[in-house]
Amino acid sequence: MVIANIEDLRQLARRRLPRAAFDFVDGGAQDEVTLRANQSDFQKLALLPRVLTDVDRRDQSVAVLGQKLEQPLILAPTGGPGMLWPDGALAAARAADRAGVGFCLSTMSTSTIEAASQAVGRPIWFQLYVMRDRGLAKSMIERARAAGCAALVLTVDLALQGQRDRDVHNGLTIPLKLRPSTLVDFAAHPGWVWRHFTGPKITLANFVDSGHGKDMFTIAEFVNSQFDQSVTWKDIEWAKSVWGGPLALKGILHPEDARLAADHGVDAVIVSNHGGRQLDGARSAISALPDVVNAVDGKMEVILDGGVRRGTDVIKALALGAKACMIGRPFLYGLASMGGAGVSRALEILRNELDVGLALVGRASVSDLDRSVLAWASQ
Ligand code: FNR
Repeated sequence: MVIANIEDLRQLARRRLPRAAFDFVDGGAQDEVTLRANQSDFQKLALLPRVLTDVDRRDQSVAVLGQKLEQPLILAPTGGPGMLWPDGALAAARAADRAGVGFCLSTMSTSTIEAASQAVGRPIWFQLYVMRDRGLAKSMIERARAAGCAALVLTVDLALQGQRDRDVHNGLTIPLKLRPSTLVDFAAHPGWVWRHFTGPKITLANFVDSGHGKDMFTIAEFVNSQFDQSVTWKDIEWAKSVWGGPLALKGILHPEDARLAADHGVDAVIVSNHGGRQLDGARSAISALPDVVNAVDGKMEVILDGGVRRGTDVIKALALGAKACMIGRPFLYGLASMGGAGVSRALEILRNELDVGLALVGRASVSDLDRSVLAWASQ
């Protein structure tokens, strides 16, 4: 199969993964209205190119939270990458490192903070849910610091887990309720089954030493009980004091929350609805971005997360004031299709598309992008 774009990687992932695993990655909450809007709202923005501007030498590099990136991209924190490919988090981290893009490890990763940090040259970021057991949260922050992580990302849009109907249909729930049809579907994907059984045991690696079991689904049950609905800005102050380094909040949509983040000394906000996996009906990330950028008024860095599938999407986000974009599914589709080589392919596609896009909008550098490159689309 010829892979020309991220959608091609998605189709390949659809073929290579059992349905339950593909739906876990591809799906969103409830009716998936927000999931779709994250992508389709990019199409409401048109590009207004300039010509004759000398775009012979083009530059995509940016600095985010003090870290230089060769492309304005960070691989978003994602749980369970080992379900897609053996040691999937390490494969993705290495691919990000090779391409010079950022990598953020999830609390719910299948590799530990230490293993992921050691696998790569440039420091990774670490994402944390502020868990009920603050002692456990504190120990993870301390582990991230000891491992040399460059930034701490607190995800704040998961007071509890959103309802993902595809996972319910597939029985991918806590507790697990796999049906015979799901198992038959596994058998129809021998490549995945083979990799799964010959690869390292899949588990939520960061929790293995916390005394709450070793098996993926036992730990998942524990983690599920740890999502804390009582978290407030006080906890952000607490996490900031424990961490003492660059801090980002992921899951901000409201401009007032962005303002509060600035007041609490946060260094960056990640405009995100969790890739449409949490509150269905929430506004799309790209539509929320301009209000957040205005509210922040240059006091913090802003990162756009959700729906990026084309280089021109990155152009639109940067033109609206984002410093960089996080991508989740685009790299997961690559990982599921071909392991680390697939993540590299996803990054290469987006790099080439951004390069062509920059040339065609008449801007030599991503730092030249501003709102003058945008107009409303006619449709
Ligand atoms: C996620 N996301 C996520 N976010 C987070 O902060 N911690 C996590 O553990 C996870 N886990 C996770 C698993 C899977 C399979 C997906 C697809 C997503 C959300 C992720 O970081 C990011 O916000 C979205 O993926 C962005 O949307 P796109 O790029 O996938 O459209």
